[in-house]
Amino acid sequence: YKKVTVKSIQEMKQNGEKISMLTAYDYTMAKIVDGAGVDVILVGDSASNVMAGHETTLPITLDQMIYHASSVVRGIDRALVVVDLPFGSYQSDPKEALRSAIRIMKESGGHAVKLEGGKEIKDSIKRILHAGIPVMGHLGLTPQSIYKFGTYTVRAKEDEEAEKLKADAKMLERSGCFAIVLEKIPAHLAKEVAESVSIPVIGIGAGGGVDGQVLVLHDLLGMTHEFNPRFLRRYMHLYDDMTKAIGQYVDDVKSTDFPNEEESY
Ligand code: KIV
Ligand code: NA
Repeated sequence: YKKVTVKSIQEMKQNGEKISMLTAYDYTMAKIVDGAGVDVILVGDSASNVMAGHETTLPITLDQMIYHASSVVRGIDRALVVVDLPFGSYQSDPKEALRSAIRIMKESGGHAVKLEGGKEIKDSIKRILHAGIPVMGHLGLTPQSIYKFGTYTVRAKEDEEAEKLKADAKMLERSGCFAIVLEKIPAHLAKEVAESVSIPVIGIGAGGGVDGQVLVLHDLLGMTHEFNPRFLRRYMHLYDDMTKAIGQYVDDVKSTDFPNEEESY
């Protein structure tokens, strides 16, 4: 195998090879995702929802992100590991942003960080990049700003928001970001952005005209079942399969079928 780097995913874009990215938050899942050949593993702050059961991504802390990221890093051989900077760890000023990014790099062993936003956080992005830490941008639906928008609906449908998004993408490229995530925006806009920048654009709910795709692992596996956006393709229905398996275990314990003699010492 060859380790994936920020350079190799830029080469993938140049060669027209699509980039696969998935979330993971723990060692066991990361080992499976890495072994299956996913290029980029995102330790997303979606851990706040998926792992901790919060309604939004806002409550997760930097310490909790470091715990998830260090668990993921121990599980991988090949993938590039990108770690979300959580809400509150980078918005107040560039120095704090850099301190947070340094903590992630030192304490988790991740390879890059991701921050939500455009020109509002330009100085923080530059500060982190100057320290030699690769930065992935994130535009469109930015869940850390949910209370500003009020809903999780498609973004940048109006011209004004689309123009800002395009300008922000160019700014992220110019600043030196190695890639950009575009979340839940019209496919034609995402395609236009991907064609206008030289760095990889990875979409979620952003259509097929971009350079790669990302999904939340637990959604792809069908472990979550209340979340049904149209962009989600479920490759398994583990919620049902796990419920059945665990129900069977309960029955077997109750009926004294488990453990049998071969399962005993
Ligand atoms: O936290 C996350 O899972 C993300 C992806 C959806 C891009 O940021
Ligand atoms: Na995120």
